Amino acid sequence: MQKVAVITGGTSGIGKSLVLKYANEGYAVVFTGRNVDRAALVVAELGERPHLALELDSAKMEDNRKMIEATIEKFGRIDVLICNAGISMRALFEDVDLDVFKKLMDINFYGAIYATKFALPYLLESKGSIIAISSINGWRSTPARTAYSSSKFAMQGFFEALRTEVMTRGVHVLVVCPGFTSSNIRNAALNADGKAQGESPRDEKKMMTSDEVAERTFKAAQKKKRDLVLTFEGKMAVFLNKIMPSRLDKMIYNMMKKEPDNPLK
Ligand SMILES: NC(=O)c1ccc[n+]([C@@H]2O[C@H](COP(=O)([O-])OP(=O)(O)OC[C@H]3O[C@@H](n4cnc5c(N)ncnc54)[C@H](OP(=O)(O)O)[C@@H]3O)[C@@H](O)[C@H]2O)c1
Repeated sequence: MQKVAVITGGTSGIGKSLVLKYANEGYAVVFTGRNVDRAALVVAELGERPHLALELDSAKMEDNRKMIEATIEKFGRIDVLICNAGISMRALFEDVDLDVFKKLMDINFYGAIYATKFALPYLLESKGSIIAISSINGWRSTPARTAYSSSKFAMQGFFEALRTEVMTRGVHVLVVCPGFTSSNIRNAALNADGKAQGESPRDEKKMMTSDEVAERTFKAAQKKKRDLVLTFEGKMAVFLNKIMPSRLDKMIYNMMKKEPDNPLK
């Protein structure tokens, strides 16, 4: 029987790489996103492989319900749910419009909650996997990313609790924390007024690729791992935060201060 993977935010970056990876591994893939032009490019890459592309907004509860209903109607089962859709921000908390904060929580946190809520009955049936794409910011916050870090901490709190609710019933929960990964996320990140900043403040060429994140995620899910923390820098941040958090406060401030046009004072 063909397995089915549902991936939120599959039109770009890590989500797109996950769609192609799971399709290459023989899964039927369902993915969402709001950008129909980019979705069409992914559909073209998938070719004849079984798929369903859905123009849906992760922030909307009803869109998540539709995503699961459409999956069941077309493929009849769900084996893997990947909560990947997400956006970032870059502004000091004192300057940021609170709508930006709400938008990030709605997409990054509530989007994952809604998708999981509607998919869970089918995952309990298939004894499947839930994969949460969090961030190093889910372990350690950084300045000028208050909303982003909060959304990822919330996500990790939720999935930690859910894991222990379902672990005796065959459902596996993996939390993936990518470090800096080359993608569209920094171009799409919202500034204090809620506008996409339109360019990346970092050298994307030096980052891990989305394809590598997808490869490592797939392997970790096959091994039913609990957590996957990526990049050397990311692993160091998580480790140093446990043993010397105050020192890391200064290191992170100095690192973020080096970003071009950073808002730090
Ligand atoms: N890149 C990094 O350095 C990095 C590091 C750590 C964690 N992450 C996490 O990895 C995940 C993927 O990010 P990425 O780096 O691949 O960024 P990306 O290239 O900007 O991709 C983001 C994806 O999320 C989708 N998305 C955003 N808002 C959505 C919404 N309201 N409804 C449906 N889909 C939505 C986008 O689709 P549409 O635009 O078509 O809606 C796109 O497919 C995010 O959760 C992010 O926090 C990324």
